[in-house]
Amino acid sequence: MSDVIHAIQNRISIPRLSAPAPGPDQLQTLFSCAVRAPDHGRMRPWRFVAMQGDALVRLGLAFEQAGLAGDPTADDSKRARWRDMPLRAPMVIAAIARIKPNSKVPDWEQVVAVATAVQNIQLAARELGFGTMWRTGEMTVAPAVLEHLDMAGTDRIVAFLYIGTPEGDARAPEFQPLDECVEYRS
Ligand SMILES: Cc1cc2nc3c(=O)[nH]c(=O)nc-3n(C[C@H](O)[C@H](O)[C@H](O)COP(=O)(O)O)c2cc1C
Repeated sequence: MSDVIHAIQNRISIPRLSAPAPGPDQLQTLFSCAVRAPDHGRMRPWRFVAMQGDALVRLGLAFEQAGLAGDPTADDSKRARWRDMPLRAPMVIAAIARIKPNSKVPDWEQVVAVATAVQNIQLAARELGFGTMWRTGEMTVAPAVLEHLDMAGTDRIVAFLYIGTPEGDARAPEFQPLDECVEYRS
């Protein structure tokens, strides 16, 4: 079987990730794979913010601010939980869609292009021995987080991609029965 098919069929999300994160050369490889994603109209809608070290602590403070905006009386443990969210991996890559109005390429197609770039990163990371976990949730739309990431009005966070070295044994991938989702017509 080809390496590509094997990599795709065996990709799984890995929530428990520790150091090391990818180094500069490895990140170069990952992002060069990202920008080869299918992209209608060559809009290049992606922007990636790779955060590690203090940048993750600062992202956690933005998460706390975002949480407090919705729940101003949150207790210390809840505040700590928000602050610690980005610390679940040694690196978090925010994958952002910079949506530009275009009569031929609707907004959703630009978001999809960024999503395929995220998948490229996931597969390439696996090949380099790293694990990833694609997360979104309420923090992707919280004004404090958008401001922290210097996002303009129409930008969308497509993923917080957690990346690092897998902890523990990998589980087996699950396969949906194909007759649930595939039709053949001829
Ligand atoms: C757009 C998008 C957003 C996601 N957001 C979350 C999330 O916030 N939390 C989460 O646990 N999984 C999230 N997932 C799903 C996981 O990344 C993962 O794909 C899922 O748990 C299935 O596991 P697998 O990738 O190993 O098959 C998201 C996936 C996508 C495509």
